[in-house]
Amino acid sequence: MSVETMALTQLGMEDLLRWVDLHRLVWQSLQDREALLARRLGQRDAAQTAQWSQAQVHLVRRAGQIAAICYSFHRVIALGSTQRTVLALAGVSTHPDWRRQGLGATVVRAAWARVAAPVTVCLFQTDVPAWYERLGARCIDNRIANSIGDGRAFWSSHAMIFPSAGPWTSDPIDLLGPGW
Ligand SMILES: CC(C)(COP(=O)(O)OP(=O)(O)OC[C@H]1O[C@@H](n2cnc3c(N)ncnc32)[C@H](O)[C@@H]1OP(=O)(O)O)[C@@H](O)C(=O)NCCC(=O)NCCS
Repeated sequence: MSVETMALTQLGMEDLLRWVDLHRLVWQSLQDREALLARRLGQRDAAQTAQWSQAQVHLVRRAGQIAAICYSFHRVIALGSTQRTVLALAGVSTHPDWRRQGLGATVVRAAWARVAAPVTVCLFQTDVPAWYERLGARCIDNRIANSIGDGRAFWSSHAMIFPSAGPWTSDPIDLLGPGW
């Protein structure tokens, strides 16, 4: 199955609009296209713009549309008193017409291909932990906060890491910036 991985900044305007429409469909978002497009273009605060500039997007196409997509980027967090860089995974979505064909797993695995020394763990949040467990991730129960900016941390029901056997402790996590 052909998966494309590219710098998010290299995504053309047509693909950005396809992504915005997929986002609105999958997340039943009422945000208008322009607001979402501005977010995709990284027109946010400086920290998010910096994060965006090094993000990679992973996608599979079907019938000229984006059928499945996610994105990943490096983030420095604190685990207890130790700062470490993790791979952040976000925006995992498959178009309803192309679900249960392995496309979601394909884009997530493409993102996880970036888990390599010195960045040995991917950290993310989700409401569908069982789906990620089948792919080799595991739930963590660390306390998660964000001491910087608006204090927004994770908002989904579960936090997870990949790989499940990755080096991890139960120390509190400080995301050191907004959750993803
Ligand atoms: C979750 C999602 C990305 C899966 O996409 P997909 O392309 O259908 O995934 P895959 O084809 O790789 O995997 C499908 C398998 O996972 C199973 N699955 C789907 N959702 C699941 C869940 N919540 N828990 C456990 N298994 C689940 C399916 O039953 C299917 O199993 P089967 O092949 O044995 O029938 C897709 O349903 C989606 O976009 N959901 C809405 C957005 C979302 O929740 N994204 C994750 C946010 S972190």
